[in-house]
Amino acid sequence: MKKRFAILVSGTGTNMKALLDAVSRGFVPAQPCLVLSDRPHAKALAVARQAQVPTSVLEFAAFGSREEFSEAVAAELKAHGAEFVCLAGFMRILSKPVIEAFPNLVVNTHPSLLPSFPGVDAVKQALDYGVKVTGCTVHFIDEEVDHGPIIAQEAVPVLPGDNERTLHERIKAVEHQIYPKVARWLALDRIRVVGRKVDIDDEEEEE
Ligand code: GRF
Repeated sequence: MKKRFAILVSGTGTNMKALLDAVSRGFVPAQPCLVLSDRPHAKALAVARQAQVPTSVLEFAAFGSREEFSEAVAAELKAHGAEFVCLAGFMRILSKPVIEAFPNLVVNTHPSLLPSFPGVDAVKQALDYGVKVTGCTVHFIDEEVDHGPIIAQEAVPVLPGDNERTLHERIKAVEHQIYPKVARWLALDRIRVVGRKVDIDDEEEEE
């Protein structure tokens, strides 16, 4: 039986699209059961509907606190039978109710080499700092922002003349490769977490 998974989005959803495409070509052997957005007009929702994935919207403003919002998100994920969850440009911080309902089963992609440059504007932070290499990180979420155990990372060079847009585009192109790999590992139950240490039982296959 294929695992069911949800994708949480707030924006354009190119990472969501990369995951859905990887499902379509059989690379991620799991069933997308829900695309959930906190923004009703997120472009990602239209893309998900076109791919015939169920969608729902939970607007943060409708809830009294981060805790209540997270409870609603957890309930929605459970209602759709999600077994793991991929955050793909989801701009809200999720707290205990989600983390406890899905222990080490919620992953996020972040456009820097964590622990450098957590939080929003990671690409701008890297440019402003003047690093020559940045990249992307896929990690489990925990109660701190962009902090949980790291599953995969890949470096991306900062090129002369890069601006936030050009650098972020190159980082995203790499995210679109590594995020489906992580989703595949989750789908196949190939990831073990001990403390901060993440072991992957990889089949070492190339797509
Ligand atoms: C990605 O770079 C991701 O790392 C960050 O937000 C961006 C989302 O882009 N959290 P998209 O919506 O998937 O195109």
